Amino acid sequence: MAYSGPFQPGDRVQLTDAKRRHFTIVLEEGGQYHTHKGGILHDDIIGKDEGTVVRSSGAGDYLCFRHLMVDHVLSMPRGAAVIYPKDTAQILIEGDIFPGARVLEAGAGSGALSMALLRAVGEKGELISYEIREDHLEYAEANVDEFFGGRPPNWTPRLGDLKEVTSEDTDGPVDRIILDMLEPWECLPVVRDLLIPGGVFMTYVATVPQLMKVMEGIRELQCFTEPKAWESLVREWKVEGLATRPEHRMNAHTAFLIWTRRLADGVTPPRPQRRARK
Ligand SMILES: C[S@@+](CC[C@H](N)C(=O)[O-])C[C@H]1O[C@@H](n2cnc3c(N)ncnc32)[C@H](O)[C@@H]1O
Repeated sequence: MAYSGPFQPGDRVQLTDAKRRHFTIVLEEGGQYHTHKGGILHDDIIGKDEGTVVRSSGAGDYLCFRHLMVDHVLSMPRGAAVIYPKDTAQILIEGDIFPGARVLEAGAGSGALSMALLRAVGEKGELISYEIREDHLEYAEANVDEFFGGRPPNWTPRLGDLKEVTSEDTDGPVDRIILDMLEPWECLPVVRDLLIPGGVFMTYVATVPQLMKVMEGIRELQCFTEPKAWESLVREWKVEGLATRPEHRMNAHTAFLIWTRRLADGVTPPRPQRRARK
């Protein structure tokens, strides 16, 4: 699948009209898309550069760009709630997802995080994604395959409960583990057993009780660094002359992120020093 260059048959293209409404089409030679302002011929788009404007038979103008990964994630069908792009960005950087990394993920859900992880680990890396629900795994597989234009060779989606996974199933240890599920604390022993010393573990939870339970579980196992937790808030701005100001609406809460690293076997985590009370 092409990510740049002139449009080709098979490209997923986002058309934007004058009212900033989006419509998505998949280019086919000889194809036609019907809008309320008449038809758009796919052949008028094929071969043109991205950022081109196509005119429909009823004189409507539409700006054409390929779907970016964020466009795909926010518009694709979902079985489970997806990790939002602002949090995925945090996971990729704070989770230190590097090209060539072996990454284990659960649950695959709708496949939104899987796509970003697959891109970040690259062709020499590997992503193993567990999903306990067959219907959700089907969504994840369909969404990932559609985005990449086929099954990525570096991806192993599996139906199963992460709690039951052993290092035989993953062909040895992994460099990074990312969990997005209701009860990640139940999987902490598996994280301990599968994560390489120095490996990064991150989990994504929506509520304060979940956050507390995971943090306590990590500390109890005594094989991880002191975990840290945070959330990211993104506020868009409207920039229009004297009306420049933050947007009124924002996604004020998606979830908390928790981060820790696996210690070497047999090492007791140093106790965090707290200031003595006066
Ligand atoms: C919120 S969704 C994950 C969304 C996904 N990260 C995305 O961005 O599309 C949580 C998923 O975890 C799955 N799940 C829950 N417990 C699990 C377990 N023990 N092993 C594997 N999958 C699990 C659920 O079935 C659900 O599909």
